[in-house]
Amino acid sequence: MSNTAFIRNDPAFVAQRYNELAPRMEALERRIRMPEGFRGRAIAKMRLSRGDRVLVLGCGAGPEIPDILDNIGSEGAIDGLDLSSASIERGKAKCLAHGWGNVRLHVADAGKFVPQTTYHGVLFAFSCIAMSAQHEHVMRHMWQYVAPGGCMTVMDSRMPWFLRWARPLAQVYVNRTYLGDMRIRPKDCLSTFGRVEDYSEKWDSFYAHTVFKQ
Ligand SMILES: C[S@@+](CC[C@H](N)C(=O)[O-])C[C@H]1O[C@@H](n2cnc3c(N)ncnc32)[C@H](O)[C@@H]1O
Repeated sequence: MSNTAFIRNDPAFVAQRYNELAPRMEALERRIRMPEGFRGRAIAKMRLSRGDRVLVLGCGAGPEIPDILDNIGSEGAIDGLDLSSASIERGKAKCLAHGWGNVRLHVADAGKFVPQTTYHGVLFAFSCIAMSAQHEHVMRHMWQYVAPGGCMTVMDSRMPWFLRWARPLAQVYVNRTYLGDMRIRPKDCLSTFGRVEDYSEKWDSFYAHTVFKQ
């Protein structure tokens, strides 16, 4: 196999990789040069309201939590899932430090987790590519838990269109860090649920696809 092909990303391997990466996630994120405030603008496309319930898939140490709480307030609730126990421990420490009593974080595989409720928003938080082998299964499984009128959003990054030729090289980097198959197009599966609303920044390289449930 060429080293530009994507490598295995089964849940056990992903958990191990992200346990190693957990202390370095902020530093890694600085390298990808995400526009400041992108998470907040993408999450705004979910049109959340105060009191809503939100499920965050691949929540890591919870960098999306503050932007979600800005929309749902202390009367709303967040469940976050991640395979990496080290990331979840960091996230729990953050919740404790900020007094976010309405956030529950779980070490769990999104493909197997059975929620106890439905959600106004289900968010793949830069996790869809990392889940690539099973991302369609996770989308279909979690779509059942989107409440009528609620939405599913996939927020992630990709190569800008004018650098797509360099994707095999980027895949080498992803194999060493975040894991997953950079060729996947989450929108293909999302569009089977309904009309997808697109949002992107920085030449399309940071994007959010949102679909609302009728
Ligand atoms: C690129 S990180 C994003 C973390 C965080 N949301 C952020 O924006 O920094 C992708 C995350 O998805 C998680 N992940 C991948 N596959 C998963 C699965 N099947 N179930 C739950 N989490 C998963 C990884 O453990 C990792 O923490």
